[in-house]
Amino acid sequence: MSDPDPTNPMRGPNRFKLGIFSANCDGGLTMSLAPERWRADWDDIVAMCRIADDAGLEFILPVAKWRGYQGKANIYGRSYETLTHSAAIGALTKRICVFSTIHVPLVTPAFGAKALATIDHVTHGRAGLNIVCGWNQEEFDLHGVTIDQDRRYEHGLEWFKVWSKLLEGGPEFDWKGEFFDLKRLSTDPLSVQKPRPLVMSAGFSPKGRDFAAQAADALFTTMTDLEQAPAFLADVAAHMARYDRSVPVYVMGHVVCRPTRAEADDFYHYFAEEHADADGQAYYRRQRGTKVGVGAATAGRPLENRFMRQSGKRYDGAYPGTFPMVGTPDDVAADMARMAAAGLAGCSVAFLDYLKEIPYFVAEVVPRLERMGLRAPVSAAPAGDRSR
Ligand SMILES: Cc1cc2nc3c(=O)[nH]c(=O)nc-3n(C[C@H](O)[C@H](O)[C@H](O)COP(=O)(O)O)c2cc1C
Repeated sequence: MSDPDPTNPMRGPNRFKLGIFSANCDGGLTMSLAPERWRADWDDIVAMCRIADDAGLEFILPVAKWRGYQGKANIYGRSYETLTHSAAIGALTKRICVFSTIHVPLVTPAFGAKALATIDHVTHGRAGLNIVCGWNQEEFDLHGVTIDQDRRYEHGLEWFKVWSKLLEGGPEFDWKGEFFDLKRLSTDPLSVQKPRPLVMSAGFSPKGRDFAAQAADALFTTMTDLEQAPAFLADVAAHMARYDRSVPVYVMGHVVCRPTRAEADDFYHYFAEEHADADGQAYYRRQRGTKVGVGAATAGRPLENRFMRQSGKRYDGAYPGTFPMVGTPDDVAADMARMAAAGLAGCSVAFLDYLKEIPYFVAEVVPRLERMGLRAPVSAAPAGDRSR
């Protein structure tokens, strides 16, 4: 039976939404050899997700990875598959949205519909889907699948159309398109959320933005500095206007929050510069088709942040394209307030050691955002919670 009032916090009222990104993988969102780096131990992941859930953060976003980034740290060499990860995390939490990440060329729309409907029932309407079209051929080689780099977003859009039509219900249908020739499609159960679970997309290229404008309820992107926001948001708005839609935009951040600015800066330098896994960084850039080094050409994707520019150092241990929020609780909250003022709907956060660092973030930064009016204090009894 469907839930009459599904509650996905991604659709909630908070002006600036927050979530955890990439904690299902070792290394998290770093390319660092620092011994404190995230090992992606399952029990640590659960404990950290529960802290995020209790604090009222809006989402958990895992990454779909099939091969590590090599180098000495081989980050992502260990990663939990995201559908099964999110079904489990969904059962162990009570209010947070749990995303799953599906690679379009690897999962059929009917499989994806059933899997997302399952998680949506487990969580009473808190499932989210991150549709990714794939970019790293080496990851796909172990599936024997070739990414069509020119047509991947067209493929993704047709995938999305079949997937969402399935979840809308109705009579069986056949589908004959450019990428799929499918017979007698139907699925049961349908999702709790209507007409379908919340969809996010993380495209950066113009085609990726256009895909998001048509298919996504949230667009995640790469931004390393707020100076990049006006042009990016204007371009995204132009894509959305074509389809008469408006989709909130999120960025991916990395947080180092400490009582003093010096401690935070030092720790960022420690893991991202002193303990950088330069080989892992080089692998990433090689696969992405970009050169290594400050000032390198990046096909329009901003990979360098203020630390790199100011110091001339490479900070190769920071994941390329992450927005660094490094400083005191006031500094981190101020960064987020500036993001909100620039028109961003929220950001994902990552920590070198998620479990060790999230309590301080939740105790010090989240209340500041509440006092700024960007978030409401978490309610005692989450609507839609039937799991306990
Ligand atoms: C927040 C976020 C999450 C992403 N998750 C994944 C993922 O799980 N698996 C993956 O292969 N790529 C992932 N990507 C990469 C995107 O799919 C995409 O390739 C990237 O944003 C660049 O966009 P473009 O390919 O349109 O240039 C993610 C990107 C972002 C910003």
